[in-house]
Amino acid sequence: MAEEPFRTIIEPFRIHSVEPMRLTTRAERAAALSRAGYNLFELRAEDVLIDLLTDSGTGAMSAEQWAGVQRGNEAYAGSPSFERFRAAVTGLFPFRQILPTHQGRAAEKILFTVTGGPGRVIPNNTHFDTTRANIEFTGAQAVDLPSPEGLQPALRHPFKGNMDVAALRELLAGSGAHVPLVMLTVTNNSGGGQPVSLANIRAVREACDRYGKPLFLDACRFAENAWFIKTREPGYADVPVAEIVRQMAALADGMTMSAKKDPLANIGGWLALNDDSLAEQCRNLEILTEGFPTYGGLAGRDLEAIAQGLNECIDDSYLRYRVRSIAYLGEALESAGVPVVVPFGGHAVFIDARALLAHLDPLQYPGQALACALYTEGGVRACEIGTVMFGLQPDGTEVPAAMDLVRLAVPRRTYTQSHLDYVIEAVTRVASRAARLPGMRIVSQPRQLRHFTARFAPLH
Ligand code: F0G
Repeated sequence: MAEEPFRTIIEPFRIHSVEPMRLTTRAERAAALSRAGYNLFELRAEDVLIDLLTDSGTGAMSAEQWAGVQRGNEAYAGSPSFERFRAAVTGLFPFRQILPTHQGRAAEKILFTVTGGPGRVIPNNTHFDTTRANIEFTGAQAVDLPSPEGLQPALRHPFKGNMDVAALRELLAGSGAHVPLVMLTVTNNSGGGQPVSLANIRAVREACDRYGKPLFLDACRFAENAWFIKTREPGYADVPVAEIVRQMAALADGMTMSAKKDPLANIGGWLALNDDSLAEQCRNLEILTEGFPTYGGLAGRDLEAIAQGLNECIDDSYLRYRVRSIAYLGEALESAGVPVVVPFGGHAVFIDARALLAHLDPLQYPGQALACALYTEGGVRACEIGTVMFGLQPDGTEVPAAMDLVRLAVPRRTYTQSHLDYVIEAVTRVASRAARLPGMRIVSQPRQLRHFTARFAPLH
């Protein structure tokens, strides 16, 4: 007889060591925010109660990962920790060449230094900010081709991260000569943490084949993406997650990766590819900026933590809990009437700040205004993904981003259900007075990646 499944999906781990959190008063938070120039990246982490700024490098490592840290071999060349890392990576992503890097953007920097440059065009479903910046830094153009469903926050569709394949074909037909490679970000972080279907990856592959272009995955959240394929795409319910990941990889020629996301490590990344001569050019650059190719900017202990994390992140009970805990947060906000991007993605809930703060113009930065209010209300740190992040153009002009979102990114295995209940209460309180929240203006900003260091002031 089949066992009756439990309705309650529990955290599939117990707590092994704890980190105290510091409660602050509203007055302390208001002062901290003002000192930070209303930029949440400038806050001291001790002044944050629940940190949903990013899911990057902020997860909790397992006992086995910490054991791996002890096993780390710190040889400059030929470390067995690198062999364990390479075996774990190629077990899921069987590319010929694996170049470790200190994080994802280092892999991007190397790849685009070799393949980018003035006049080049690099399409993606949606470039993440560091990817776009690394491409633009070489003088190349980063083009986003999200599927039309992905641009409608309230529309329900199982794979809103998909690329618009017709638009890709059109781009390749017109300016294919300028395209060195096509990228696909799984899950599509900037587009709302939405997954990409295997059918879409296959269709992108076909377009790439037709025009002779290599396809690279930006695979930071590959395991969450694979879980959505397993649970949403017809025909995959009984396919193991690891096998789905290998099918994703088999459609690509290479990948960039941040081990700070799904691989459950606090640092790390890699560039993987099949093209030996491209790999050689990349490896020469890697040695210049990252280190010898068997450690690439990482300590041996980090390579061990990543190798073990790769085994853990494809576990069904972990992924079921992970995706369910994001949906728990999202469903509660949705039923409280907060406009959120649906369906919920794998690592974050995105609030539609442009809809919630409809009294503000996008150039009054509704996402930034909302993120600041959430911090003042409950010490919850979120991240604007909108006009502050994407509005400044390379020529210095400013245009509204496609969407103004606030991302509540949930670190992996770090916060409990009661922490999320607290977040739900804080967001709901702020939402009830959203129409009175002031917009923001920028007081000072750099030319690139301005969201990290710009200073703001509230408009009164
Ligand atoms: N690609 C995607 C889709 C990402 O989300 C990130 C990082 C990177 C590349 C760069 O990786 O940080 O290791 O250099 N995203 C983090 C975030 C920072 O908060 O979403 P990295």
